[in-house]
Amino acid sequence: MRLRETLPLLRIARPETPPGARRLARCRSIDDVARMARRRLPIGARAYLDSGAEGEYTLRRNRAAFDELELVPQMLHEVDEVDTTTTVLGGRIALPFALSPVGGPRLFHHEGELAAVRAARRAGIPYGVSTLANTSVEDVAAHAGGTPLWFQLYVWGDRGEAKEAVARARQAGFQALLFSIDTTVRSKREREQRAGLDLPHPNLSLRTFLDGALHPDWAWHFLTSETISFPNIGPPDHRSREKLEDMFDGTVTMADLDWIRELWDGPLLLKGVIQPEQAVQAAEAGLDGVIVSNHGGRQLDHAPATIDVLPSIVEAAGDRLEVLVDSGFRRGSDVAVALALGAKAVLLGRAHLYGLAAAGEGGVRHCIELLAEELRMTMGLCAARRIADLDATMVRHRLPPAGEPRPAPAPAHASAG
Ligand SMILES: Cc1cc2nc3c(=O)[nH]c(=O)nc-3n(C[C@H](O)[C@H](O)[C@H](O)COP(=O)(O)O)c2cc1C
Repeated sequence: MRLRETLPLLRIARPETPPGARRLARCRSIDDVARMARRRLPIGARAYLDSGAEGEYTLRRNRAAFDELELVPQMLHEVDEVDTTTTVLGGRIALPFALSPVGGPRLFHHEGELAAVRAARRAGIPYGVSTLANTSVEDVAAHAGGTPLWFQLYVWGDRGEAKEAVARARQAGFQALLFSIDTTVRSKREREQRAGLDLPHPNLSLRTFLDGALHPDWAWHFLTSETISFPNIGPPDHRSREKLEDMFDGTVTMADLDWIRELWDGPLLLKGVIQPEQAVQAAEAGLDGVIVSNHGGRQLDHAPATIDVLPSIVEAAGDRLEVLVDSGFRRGSDVAVALALGAKAVLLGRAHLYGLAAAGEGGVRHCIELLAEELRMTMGLCAARRIADLDATMVRHRLPPAGEPRPAPAPAHASAG
């Protein structure tokens, strides 16, 4: 074949802008996006994103637990179309996902919450805003365009200030309140400590500046955009940073549920639940749901993997509470397992932060699309047309290698959902 005949067969790709978009498009999994994010971030931000507590047993267990589970489709039947819509807290959402609340996301990308909430809006899924967000609840609401907003509350010594934060979230139109119970005191994250990220007073050394020079895109935006602050715990000045020191003072107890219930008459969820008894207490205090979470392995090390404890919490919740889950979800098939075990939806923590760090709003959108595509495929392969078709009979513990004894059937207490 002559060159002249070959040329029309060649597809010449037009260069896309921005350049990061091409690299992002080549990311086929959340792990690919994570690698792209790590290349863009300096050491401190990287440590803050990836670290777990102490020996990082729980961080690893969150992923390893999925290795032990199998999805076993039931009878095959025609699946012409897959419907991923579902109802959470009384509202219809396009996918069984929500973006987890995170503190300090502007360390990953200068647009922080605004980039993420725009991506959530495009996807039609709820967005969680942390007490320690870098963008005010009012500004996030102005960009949410009707996507459900959830405010995550940390309570600290001065309950008056927590009340003020909740009042602002209500005024800004937030639909749900998530009360976190897994961060009563600070945890020890050694990767952060080694990187000098000792918030609220990070150590800025020569190494920090050299590392910044090696990550010029991140450093440029960090230095030329507004100083990082925590505007939901006070005015956006340095006083809010000082308040961080008083937070996580160990004074939070389950007794706080009662006054928070009185404070907030909309949907109220307990975040950080890892055992059935906590769900029972939440139901008794009149809460609407729980989020099974170990904070992505960042708080109590040796806490169980959430996918392992989910079935028993679903059973304890019965039809009194909606059960959501997070920690360690990186695949659409992971989400399918949790839905089959009775979760209503999965919150995406690092699985959206990697996208944010890699490429801002486009990166978060890419991550949501990857997970949505994987979920649709998994549902198709399990012959599940709708989320409700995924049920606990499709999940079992991994069979042992040939010749070894079979384990008892598990997960225990699995119920349909
Ligand atoms: C960098 C980072 C900051 C976080 N900040 C908060 C926070 O301010 N409040 C909160 O309730 N959870 C916070 N979390 C926990 C997440 O909401 C979520 O529970 C966790 O990331 C889920 O685990 P995954 O990252 O493995 O998906 C944070 C997580 C990360 C990774």
